[in-house]
Amino acid sequence: MTKLHLDLGERGYDITVGRSLLSSAGEYFNLDRKVFIVTDTGVPSEYAERVAKCAKEYRIVTVPMGEGAKSPEVYTRLLSSAVEFGMTRTDCMVAVGGGVVGDLCGFVAASYMRGIDFYNIPTTLLSQVDSSIGGKTAINLGGVKNIVGAFHQPKGVLIDLDTLKTLPKRQISNGMAEVIKMALTSDSELFSFLEENEINDENIERVVVSSLKIKKYVVENDERESGLRKILNFGHTLGHAIEAEEEMRGFYHGECVALGMLATISDKARPGLISALVKAGLPTEYKGNIEHALSFITHDKKCDGSMVSIIFVDTPGSFRIEKMTTEAFMDLCLKKI
Ligand code: GLY
Repeated sequence: MTKLHLDLGERGYDITVGRSLLSSAGEYFNLDRKVFIVTDTGVPSEYAERVAKCAKEYRIVTVPMGEGAKSPEVYTRLLSSAVEFGMTRTDCMVAVGGGVVGDLCGFVAASYMRGIDFYNIPTTLLSQVDSSIGGKTAINLGGVKNIVGAFHQPKGVLIDLDTLKTLPKRQISNGMAEVIKMALTSDSELFSFLEENEINDENIERVVVSSLKIKKYVVENDERESGLRKILNFGHTLGHAIEAEEEMRGFYHGECVALGMLATISDKARPGLISALVKAGLPTEYKGNIEHALSFITHDKKCDGSMVSIIFVDTPGSFRIEKMTTEAFMDLCLKKI
């Protein structure tokens, strides 16, 4: 078991990584109160039930699986359910699921009675290495992702690696894109490991913990994304555009980020990235309509008018941030993808 502490002063919290942790959630979180648990239909129901057994009083709400649950309607339904359950300011909410559940439940917790305690139990690789840490919570509105949200740090994060055993292989690859992203900008040693190795049950803890250390460092130094935290968007500007273009075909976020990274990596480092993507089971070429996908770039939150902040990796383990016009970025993508 590994315990990390994300140091944000009073808003700091522990991140515990291990196995068979769900049934002992009460040892890590204060569940001796009303506990409102949010999970989704894609998560085995016994995960939330195991956590509920540690609570003094609980309500489990299961939302539909998928990005569609990050809607104002589902958000309002959860708030109403919390009111009906009689939640007070001293009670807490717990997310048991992937990034969608964490973002949604986190935002409900951030806004219910102006903010109550929130714990996160991420059950997908992507949420374990990235989205469960750092306090970003949000829902979507009018087709724009994460446009309504809040920074609301969890009071604790419990990462039970056993939950990955029920995860489809494609979902593991989805999370690996974020691992590769963090290694490329910040940890050349981890990146070399990813070039040579496929993820498996033996090395998963090392990979998750190494990624968490990067994320922890970034959030501790730039909680509100005024500088350093932008590096977590490496590959995401083009990635989000491809994701919007491919919505109907069901591309995963990590698959789109994988393609997005290929546009902003140096020619020298590109073969290494391709090796790591292949090892992780991620795509290395885009066969869709790149011109049309690029038209979504202006919808990206990171796009400030006609300018975008783009993260480039010339050498694994390092990065540079460049502000450029959307046109210049689009030209670059057309050349590289
Ligand atoms: N997942 C990006 C961030 O937490 O900033």
